[in-house]
Amino acid sequence: MKKCIFTAAFCLAIGFVVSTGSALAADPVLEVSDCVKCHAKVVHQNQDDGASHKTEVSCLDCHEGGHPPTTPKEEIIPQCSKCHEGEAHFEVKTPCLSCHQNPHQPLHIVFGEDNVAVCNTCHPTQVNEIKDNPSAHGGFDCAVCHHDKHGYIPDCMECHEPHREGQTFADCVSCHRVHQPLNVAYGQDEPNKNCGACHGDLANTLVSGTSKHAKLQCVFCHKDTHGNIPACQGCHGVPHPQSMMQKFPKCLDCHINPHDLAI
Ligand code: HEC
Ligand code: HEC
Ligand code: HEC
Ligand code: HEC
Ligand code: HEC
Ligand code: HEC
Ligand code: HEC
Ligand code: HEC
Ligand code: HEC
Ligand code: HEC
Ligand code: HEC
Ligand code: HEC
Repeated sequence: MKKCIFTAAFCLAIGFVVSTGSALAADPVLEVSDCVKCHAKVVHQNQDDGASHKTEVSCLDCHEGGHPPTTPKEEIIPQCSKCHEGEAHFEVKTPCLSCHQNPHQPLHIVFGEDNVAVCNTCHPTQVNEIKDNPSAHGGFDCAVCHHDKHGYIPDCMECHEPHREGQTFADCVSCHRVHQPLNVAYGQDEPNKNCGACHGDLANTLVSGTSKHAKLQCVFCHKDTHGNIPACQGCHGVPHPQSMMQKFPKCLDCHINPHDLAI
């Protein structure tokens, strides 16, 4: 038969058999099914979103060894390290409960202000990337952008204006890798209008030309990284007789402008 460890009136109210005597102190026999009677909020939180702390462990795996007032509160509150040991993430200095704010809903995670070292236990690639490529972004804590919710991806436009109207997040990251934003790099599909956002004159010159270059994409010639300047010979070899080239060594002596060829 279950015994109640509280005052007689309280125990009667919740339907426990009331016991007395010192035997009780040594023998509190609460079962998991009892907890809901007095800790309904905690139990419901755990039922709703307890993750592994609902499926893999029970109330009494964590709150072992008695119950207040016979057992002091501190003694039945477990350390996380009781069950989580041996990985970098479990050795972090930041208190576990500062992020895992509710042990009964362990995946409800809220970031505080100083997270880099903790993020680093699982995302060393991003932490190193931002550290090894100095930029204004490197001065931020991860949560400045990723907010306080794990997995949140910010839109650049939360903080920046686009280079031209109508640019989307997908445009931004087609040139900027956010953890190293100054190393602008792009693929073969980057549309001319994205270059034209800053090099508008050149983009106009190019399309209004009459040579075959007018049909080419900027990035067909300026490959991969911003500022890359191609050599004409890289694509054309030496198309004219050596004697001519000796007299006029530069292609642009005659062809004038790659974006508006004279031919
Ligand atoms: C009859 C009502 C009742 C039942 C049943 C009960 N508790 Fe409690 N529990 C309390 C009360 C009241 C306190 C506060 C005691 C105090 O502040 O001294 C408490 C305190 C606690 C604490 C410490 C809370 C703190 O403030 O640090 C834990 C942990 C706890 N209970 C877990 C459980 C678990 C687990 C179960 C089920 C196995 C359970 N309780 C069943 C009434 C109950
Ligand atoms: C994985 C371990 C773990 C499990 C499982 C667990 N708890 Fe807890 N519980 C804790 C820890 C740790 C604290 C202290 C939280 C703090 O200091 O903020 C706590 C605090 C409490 C408290 C006091 C604080 C509050 O939120 O009211 C109660 C009551 C409690 N638990 C009841 C329960 C009940 C009932 C269950 C089963 C549904 C349960 N716990 C399951 C670890 C656990
Ligand atoms: C009594 C043992 C026990 C204690 C104490 C305990 N945990 Fe757990 N926890 C587990 C088990 C078992 C799992 C499931 C297996 C795993 O992920 O290691 C788990 C899983 C988790 C998960 C992943 C949940 C999921 O479903 O993916 C988190 C987060 C977590 N624990 C955080 C904590 C934190 C923070 C504390 C301290 C407040 C703590 N645990 C205390 C046993 C415990
Ligand atoms: C800065 C916030 C933060 C702190 C501090 C923190 N964690 Fe975590 N923890 C996380 C995030 C984020 C995850 C990933 C959750 C996911 O996979 O969805 C996680 C996952 C976990 C997991 C499940 C995944 C795994 O590796 O088993 C456990 C268990 C866990 N944490 C325990 C702890 C313990 C124990 C501490 C304290 C020593 C702690 N955490 C401190 C943010 C934090
Ligand atoms: C305990 C390990 C762990 C910790 C600590 C952790 N994460 Fe994660 N994180 C994961 C896992 C697991 C995933 C999902 C798998 C994946 O996409 O790599 C993930 C995914 C992410 C994603 C991608 C979500 C998406 O949709 O692609 C972001 C962003 C992220 N984490 C940011 C952070 C930040 C910021 C921190 C520190 C405040 C952090 N994480 C701490 C384990 C962790
Ligand atoms: C300036 C804002 C910003 C900062 C600071 C930042 N991130 Fe990110 N992070 C993003 C954006 C935006 C994405 C999505 C990038 C994409 O889709 O190309 C992202 C993506 C991620 C991802 C998903 C995988 C990936 O690389 O796309 C992880 C994990 C991540 N960040 C972790 C971190 C960590 C850890 C830190 C701190 C060292 C951090 N981030 C700092 C904005 C930021
Ligand atoms: C949470 C706000 C925030 C988000 C989100 C963010 N940035 Fe930034 N970024 C800044 C701030 C602040 C600076 C420094 C001042 C400035 O140049 O505007 C900066 C600077 C930059 C710089 C110049 C870096 C330097 O060192 O001069 C680039 C490029 C950049 N951001 C691109 C992006 C891109 C692309 C995204 C999305 C993938 C993004 N940012 C998301 C806040 C943010
Ligand atoms: C076609 C490639 C490309 C695209 C697409 C692109 N950027 Fe840039 N961005 C650059 C280049 C190149 C620079 C450096 C210009 C310089 O050297 O002054 C730059 C610079 C920046 C800067 C630094 C401050 C400034 O304005 O010079 C920020 C912030 C920035 N970009 C944000 C964004 C955002 C937000 C998006 C998406 C709306 C975006 N970029 C899309 C190439 C691009
Ligand atoms: C955000 C504005 C911005 C965008 C977008 C942009 N550029 Fe630039 N670009 C600049 C600025 C400013 C300079 C001159 C300063 C410098 O060298 O960084 C420049 C310089 C250049 C240079 C000359 C480098 C040199 O050494 O003389 C080339 C080539 C170039 N850009 C090509 C492109 C191409 C191709 C694109 C599209 C993929 C593009 N730019 C997108 C702002 C931009
Ligand atoms: C990345 C490759 C590439 C580079 C670099 C390049 N071109 Fe071209 N060029 C082309 C292509 C492709 C065509 C069109 C060929 C065709 O359709 O037969 C072309 C055509 C031409 C033509 C013939 C135009 C016409 O309308 O008939 C001339 C002249 C020419 N290029 C000169 C130059 C000069 C001068 C440079 C350096 C300033 C240069 N090209 C750099 C790829 C390149
Ligand atoms: C056919 C190849 C080709 C195409 C297509 C091309 N460029 Fe160029 N671009 C060059 C070459 C070659 C140079 C170097 C010219 C020189 O040496 O004076 C150059 C120089 C530049 C420069 C630096 C010098 C200047 O004129 O300001 C910028 C910026 C530039 N291009 C941007 C662009 C943009 C933006 C586009 C697309 C609208 C584009 N280019 C398309 C080949 C090309
Ligand atoms: C002395 C002036 C001069 C110089 C220097 C010059 N070209 Fe030309 N190039 C011409 C003329 C004129 C034509 C058109 C007549 C022809 O087809 O021969 C031409 C045509 C071309 C064509 C088109 C050929 C075809 O078969 O359609 C290409 C490609 C070309 N030049 C590339 C170059 C390159 C690359 C350089 C530098 C290595 C260069 N040119 C230097 C005058 C010059």
